Amino acid sequence: MYQYDQYDHLIVRERIAQYRDQVQRRLSGELTEEEFLPLRLQNGLYMQRHAYMLRIAVPYGLLSSKQMRMFAHIARKYDRGYGHFTTRQNIQFNWIELEQTPDILADLASVEMHAIQTSGNCIRNVTSDEFAGVAADEIIDPRPYAEVLRQWSTFHPEFIALPRKFKVAINGALEDRAAIAIHDIGLTVVKNEAGEIGFKVMVGGGMGRTPIIGTTIREFLPREHLLTYTEAIMRVYNQYGRRDNKYKARIKILLKAIGAEEFARQVEEEWADLKGTEETLTLEEMERVIAYFQPHPYETLEAIDPRAGHEDNKAFANWLGRNVKPHKQAGYAAVILSLKKTGVPPGDATAEQMDFMADLADRYSFGELRVTHEQNIVLADVKQSQLFDLWKEIKAHGLATPNIGLLTDIICCPGGDFCSLANAKSIPISAAIAERFDHLDFLHDIGDIELNISGCINACGHHHVGNIGVLGVDKDGSEWYQVSIGGAQGNATAIGKIIGPSFSAHQMPEVIDRLLRVYLRERTPDEKFVDTVQRIGIAPFKEHVYATPINEPGRLVGEDEYA
Ligand code: HEM
Ligand code: SF4
Repeated sequence: MYQYDQYDHLIVRERIAQYRDQVQRRLSGELTEEEFLPLRLQNGLYMQRHAYMLRIAVPYGLLSSKQMRMFAHIARKYDRGYGHFTTRQNIQFNWIELEQTPDILADLASVEMHAIQTSGNCIRNVTSDEFAGVAADEIIDPRPYAEVLRQWSTFHPEFIALPRKFKVAINGALEDRAAIAIHDIGLTVVKNEAGEIGFKVMVGGGMGRTPIIGTTIREFLPREHLLTYTEAIMRVYNQYGRRDNKYKARIKILLKAIGAEEFARQVEEEWADLKGTEETLTLEEMERVIAYFQPHPYETLEAIDPRAGHEDNKAFANWLGRNVKPHKQAGYAAVILSLKKTGVPPGDATAEQMDFMADLADRYSFGELRVTHEQNIVLADVKQSQLFDLWKEIKAHGLATPNIGLLTDIICCPGGDFCSLANAKSIPISAAIAERFDHLDFLHDIGDIELNISGCINACGHHHVGNIGVLGVDKDGSEWYQVSIGGAQGNATAIGKIIGPSFSAHQMPEVIDRLLRVYLRERTPDEKFVDTVQRIGIAPFKEHVYATPINEPGRLVGEDEYA
């Protein structure tokens, strides 16, 4: 993986020194909270409901075991023993003391990590496919390009005060596992007819208040122009993006206002000045970066059936079927460690689990781990012959729940338990649903389904693109939940449709149950939930969910105005 060079080390060290001084001045009262606010946000430190929250970037989700151990150390020494992996391949710590933040950042720097640009109106952590480099359907490994974008965007003087935050995702495979369509810029590696590598460029996707799927503005961008073309997009946005209204400030609104064609025209015009300048990616520069992402020293192995010898072990078979993914290299597999055990908030890992995962990475997977945007962890390079031993080990640590892609593999934001922007709690909703459907046979029968929950319209939990999306809303101080269905991520990204008036927390598990009953009744063989919704529409689901009141003293379904 990428290692810091002298410049990376220097800028991170200098930033910590500056920040240490800023914290000192805040503590002595020399700086007011108002003056300090932008300074701390530039270092990923938010004030949340109970305490400070620190967000740390994991570039394109790739972590060394040493870095994961550092997270465990931070969780143990400075927090309450756990951390929260997010949908943007970051980690958040929720119980941080201001006084300790310079030391935390110094600890992070010692393992080449930081919290710079995890907040504010700048280019945020560039995200990618968690199986980058090992996926069987990959055209090329997108991570060197993500790394180039990271280096280019970190402290880019022109783009540190954009109209709003800016999110870039990059995918190198046929299947989109990086949610590119809901990013400000979504890049897909493509090959043209001449066999040359380039990018399909999508712009203007995003969720939040106005969910929009990105539009392709260029079908093929030769790879050497990645930075100059991205810069042209950023310049148009920086100049014309709205700064008068926070809710209309994202690039998606600009694109919508002037039309994608006009936007693309302006980008091309801007690009004409930039094309061929010194930011063009030379072969030497790319080779320098690609060298950090060379495949690991794989052994030459025969592909085997990992089930052989364990034919009677249904639990192991379930886990293989759900949590183990194919690998480019014969004899290897990618393993997803589920952070979705019932009773644990999605994406949370304890210090003990983090240390353990780091240890697993060293023993089974060349010392590397990846964070997925579904809030799980991947060991990307496990020998098939070791899968059974690995499974036995992780089972004991609550990381082998065979639920990847199933109903209980819920994406969930921290919601009202932590987040000061929340309208409603989200973790207890995910817990109640996970508990109600904590029955593996039933879950496996339902098959692939994505349930995403956000505690407010900001959509950190990706509810818009959940096959079932749950959004917390506030009504006269009480918490309600609006449900949408038919959303999807990946190649067929779609925004879900709201089924009707919202529900109380208490009603939510029954709502999910009713939605599933319609699916089980209507599905054709091998049809996924989302495909059934797309085929028959939302009406049959709506009808069944609202047919009879869901029992709750004092409240009836349908009385809520947030339909
Ligand atoms: C608790 C601290 C958090 C705060 C204060 C916060 C704040 C926000 C805000 C204000 C937005 C709306 C931005 C906009 O539409 O321009 C947003 C969107 C988002 N946040 Fe968070 N968030 C937090 C935690 C998280 C977590 C834990 C995740 C991942 C689980 C996350 C991932 C996202 C994503 C994916 C979006 C949608 C972005 C888009 O439309 O492009 N955030 N967040
Ligand atoms: S969706 Fe809302 S409640 Fe959830 S983390 Fe984002 S800002 Fe907070």
